[in-house]
Amino acid sequence: MVVYKHCDRFTAPKNGELFLSKRVRTAVFPVAGLGTRFLPATKAMPKEMLTVVDRPLIQYAVDEAREAGIEHFVFVTGRNKGVIEDHFDRQFELEATLELRGKTTALEELRKDLPSAGRTSFTRQQEPLGLGHAVWCARDIVGDNPFALLLPDMLFKGQPGVLKQMMDAYEETGGNVIAVAEMPEEEVSAYGIVARGEGPDTGFIITQMVEKPKREDAPSNLIISGRYILQPEVFNLLADQPRGAGGEIQITDAMQTMMHQQPFTGVKYQGQGFDCGSKIGFLTANVVYALDRPDIRDGFLKELRKLDLGGRL
Ligand code: G1P
Repeated sequence: MVVYKHCDRFTAPKNGELFLSKRVRTAVFPVAGLGTRFLPATKAMPKEMLTVVDRPLIQYAVDEAREAGIEHFVFVTGRNKGVIEDHFDRQFELEATLELRGKTTALEELRKDLPSAGRTSFTRQQEPLGLGHAVWCARDIVGDNPFALLLPDMLFKGQPGVLKQMMDAYEETGGNVIAVAEMPEEEVSAYGIVARGEGPDTGFIITQMVEKPKREDAPSNLIISGRYILQPEVFNLLADQPRGAGGEIQITDAMQTMMHQQPFTGVKYQGQGFDCGSKIGFLTANVVYALDRPDIRDGFLKELRKLDLGGRL
């Protein structure tokens, strides 16, 4: 039987076991990465501020978290990332100008995007020691609570959003939840990979996790997709986590150890995912999001049709 400390709600008993889980109120966004794959665009601008149509990647991740019921947003930033903090603040001069010009819709939209006052926290990862280390930097802010972890490079078009789908699984299982997706075998070595045990796509048992395995060592083609719900015990493991793949402290390695003490559930999410950490994924996302926007679709299609795509393809 697995029982968590300081529980404030029960989840449905399963196979005679009773999992007790706290509600997930906090989300962590690691945004300290250097973004070297997008140079020179990211020389002075954080990669999380790159836009898909007209919204920065970080805004999509925050929107997804809010839809899933998250109330507190923790950003693990680094040098040159101050603009992310500005993005989640009021901009009085801009607001006054929009008001003066009667652009009320734009003004309302801007205000809607903002988390309420006091609901954001910013801390810094002082050295680029890896994703596991970035998450560990949020430990004092998160405290002894479960939390969601969202990697803003990964962008999802899902109804409901991917984190909401995971929250639904968490309601049933408690413990830790990870979003996964199938990937062509030649690409698995760029990701964390899980092995699948029993259960449906909406919540199956994860039996193993490995970070960036060689293609021949990968236990499946199910990738860890950049969305996690984790219990706070992961912070203790991260504190002593030796460096793993790429010489970095990896969250996947800590989770693999934690799997011996707590359940990990995989959710094969409904929806389309874009790896905006890669140029191809980012460009594809821009095309798909533009075509799905009622105010842009027709004009964009018209221009695309005018292009000599035949000659370029
Ligand atoms: C990180 C994780 C990896 C996951 C990936 C998703 O890797 O370590 O497990 O599959 O994000 O994008 P990174 O892309 O930071 O190398």
